[in-house]
Amino acid sequence: MENKSKQDLTVQRDSATLSVWQRNAIMPDLQQTKGFNRDQVYDCLIVGAGITGITTALLLQQAGLNCVIAEARSAGFGTTSGTSAHLNTFFDATYPEIESDFGHDAAKLTAQAGKEAFDIICSFVKDLKIDCDLEFKQAWLYAENEKENKELIQILEASKRAGLQVEIATESDVPVPFSTVIKFEQQGQFHPLKYINGLLAEYIALGGILLENTPIISYEPEGDSHIAKAGSVAIKANKIVYATHMPPGINLLDLSNAPYRSYVIGLRLKDDQYPAGLAYDMQEPYHYFRTHIIDGQKYLLVGGEDHKTGHGDPDKAFENLKTYVSQYYKVESVDFEWSAQYYVPADGLPYIGQLPGHDQDIFVATGFNGNGMMFGTLSGRIIADLILGKKNKYQQLFDPSRLKPLAGFKAFVKENADVAWHFLADRFSFERLDELQKLKAGEGKLVKFEDKQLAVYKDATGKITALNPTCTHAGCIVQFNHAEQSWDCPCHGGRFDISGKVLNGPPTQDLEKIIINYDLQV
Ligand code: FES
Repeated sequence: MENKSKQDLTVQRDSATLSVWQRNAIMPDLQQTKGFNRDQVYDCLIVGAGITGITTALLLQQAGLNCVIAEARSAGFGTTSGTSAHLNTFFDATYPEIESDFGHDAAKLTAQAGKEAFDIICSFVKDLKIDCDLEFKQAWLYAENEKENKELIQILEASKRAGLQVEIATESDVPVPFSTVIKFEQQGQFHPLKYINGLLAEYIALGGILLENTPIISYEPEGDSHIAKAGSVAIKANKIVYATHMPPGINLLDLSNAPYRSYVIGLRLKDDQYPAGLAYDMQEPYHYFRTHIIDGQKYLLVGGEDHKTGHGDPDKAFENLKTYVSQYYKVESVDFEWSAQYYVPADGLPYIGQLPGHDQDIFVATGFNGNGMMFGTLSGRIIADLILGKKNKYQQLFDPSRLKPLAGFKAFVKENADVAWHFLADRFSFERLDELQKLKAGEGKLVKFEDKQLAVYKDATGKITALNPTCTHAGCIVQFNHAEQSWDCPCHGGRFDISGKVLNGPPTQDLEKIIINYDLQV
């Protein structure tokens, strides 16, 4: 498996598995820290160097502002290197759902927002001559039973009302039997790491600063500006944008976003029956298909089997995907399997704008559902406009402090009931220490040891690492993710590597290491 050779790669990711985008992807040496002046007050500090942060920073830098991007690890380390890189103008929140919860005008505006995000990407690719495999595609969405038929027709009609180019089709792009299929025009795909490389190169050329390995833990006001700290590094800035999915600390967004893991496999076929376009079913959990050529080799990308972070079985998700695809394609080999994280907003639409509960100079962009490339790009436009004092027509629709007591209420209650359950129940589900004897290399487990709760992990040499499993964000108990070799928090999606180091916020503090006066070499 390609997954085993990750240490040789320049582009690192927040997970142990290797995504297809990491294959031979090398982030260029951009002289990133050159020019950083710790005494200067920058116009804007952008926290996070994924597609959201880099797009925001570039748009601001192009407008003449002086920006710093502070990235906890390296550019593209988060979901941008694990995305399936679809560029869709129809979203996980369907147009019938948006119409029903927010009204017809909001559905139209959301469709325009999707088109604008796509236009921004196309303009950057053209103007900056970014070689990122950008392609326009048709996309098929198909129903396989009566219930799905009905829903699909509603999606068709509401999508048309919202302004999308979509129609009933007579055939699909994938060999999955369907009862009804619709076809969207003007959809797309690209290579996300090549794309953000191109944006970053321009950002640096315009004098933008990128500080990698700079995890921002907190900020505080200083006169009319702010000072943000990452260890001994202090960055002064008038505005701060959190482009990290969830901002640090505990806030309203923790209650209105549910973290999910999504799975993708990249495989070669025995024949050349790769789909030309994008295809999606309507199952729960759903599946999708698309093709990408990397270094001359075609790969069929098949994804789905999503579940809440810290809840499902990642190994089973990969197995299910393999079983599913083998029903329809002659698989030569599965070369890649990886997962990534995204956040499902309670009412279906992303939260982009001023961070609730903070002063007006602090911004956030999160809750992108599975549409991160589009909403990440759109966030850049919206937040850049807000910072530049321009009006943005999407500002109100995606305002993080919007109050929609009816929209998504059921999901909101469900997600939060789940959070409460984990606060209470996890503490009673630990295994006995003698279970360590049965722990296999590469496995982690929660155990009780001398009245202490421990998250223990055994590496390939048999060495055990013990951590306090209490998430440093709000105290939930982390769960082991075997596929990604990480400890994942089921409450708000915080993730930690096997040494306890933060991989994904909202936590900013590592898990506490536990030193045990006991020989745990078992
Ligand atoms: Fe919030 Fe762990 S991420 S408690």
